[in-house]
Amino acid sequence: TLTSLTAMAQQEPNYEESKVPAVVLPDIFLSEKGKWIRTIEEWEKVRRPEIFQLFESEVYGKIPKDFDSMNFEKVKESLNPYPESADLEEINITVRRNGKYHTMRVNLFLPKSGKGPFPVILLINYLPKYPDGKLVDESFWPVKKLIERGFATASFHAETVAPDLTESYQQGIISTLYPEQIGQPNGLKAFGAWGWAAMRAMDYFEQHPQIDSKKSVLVGHSRTGKTALWTSANDPRWAITYANESGCGGAAISRRKYGETVEAINRRFPYWFADNFRKYNEREEALPLDQHMLPGLIAPRAVYYSSAREDRWADPKGEYLGLSLGSRVFSEIYGKKAVFEQEFEALSGPVHLESVGYHIREGKHDLTWEDWRIFLEFVSKTYKE
Ligand code: GCU
Repeated sequence: TLTSLTAMAQQEPNYEESKVPAVVLPDIFLSEKGKWIRTIEEWEKVRRPEIFQLFESEVYGKIPKDFDSMNFEKVKESLNPYPESADLEEINITVRRNGKYHTMRVNLFLPKSGKGPFPVILLINYLPKYPDGKLVDESFWPVKKLIERGFATASFHAETVAPDLTESYQQGIISTLYPEQIGQPNGLKAFGAWGWAAMRAMDYFEQHPQIDSKKSVLVGHSRTGKTALWTSANDPRWAITYANESGCGGAAISRRKYGETVEAINRRFPYWFADNFRKYNEREEALPLDQHMLPGLIAPRAVYYSSAREDRWADPKGEYLGLSLGSRVFSEIYGKKAVFEQEFEALSGPVHLESVGYHIREGKHDLTWEDWRIFLEFVSKTYKE
């Protein structure tokens, strides 16, 4: 029967480095016409658009950029947990297209002390424990510590635009604003919808007198880390993009098939990526790209990855390789001091280079204060450069 065939196809994840296949990656700098890409102009006019187009059609699907109108409305629904140090703004963003509309919520904390405009950190939240996106935490979204360090910080819940479920992910902006995307093999899916929402938050920041939107940071953990990377590839307004433990379909090289594979992610989360991505189930080597090409779509804007030792499902080594290979766009095209010199096995501390950074910490899959603390050192260094 079909069920038993499917069950048979489900393989145990591989966690043994010795069983990782020999990986042959498509070259970042070889254009589809067979030309070696060397200059910024060749990169931006030829190769970057080719790679972007491949990710859009084969991996993530489209993020539509058009709509008819948008408005911002400040509401007051919850108590500010930090009245001493921060002002809380709760904003409903309503977007209209073709006679329909959708409203999404963003929550923004602004420092009370110091003089703005403030740099801003946006976290794309998806955890069920914060369903309304309002609750704050000392680690996952450490609002108080970010405020103390002079940042404005905002968050929205992914489900404010697309539910994180196979059955209902279209019941947000996809069916309301962009119904023509449904059924297209490269159409808008949940990651694209979440990324679209981050762009609307940025639209709000750009017109906010107390926010320095040129100093913006986009942060995502795991599934929203994958989202953050694709968002920033679509939207050049983010100065720094941070993907924590984003693993398969994010930071990690798919061809390694270590931990989560393309087949495993598409089977469990068929609504995250473009339908085309399924063509590569158990055929990673047929991909015309791999995840090492993703940081280059964000370059020369800063990119940061982090991993956790016990988070084998996300393939820490594959994440490091994705960034260290991808950083060649920063160093070879944009002339940044961004060459990763250490092997993954030899890493002894964070690697904070020019516009590219990485750390790995002990412990499990999570976004922790330790991750934030080390990442914020990279942020200060980047804004000083
Ligand atoms: C699952 C999924 C991962 C994802 C993770 C998360 O484990 O397989 O791809 O990154 O959830 O979002 O926490």
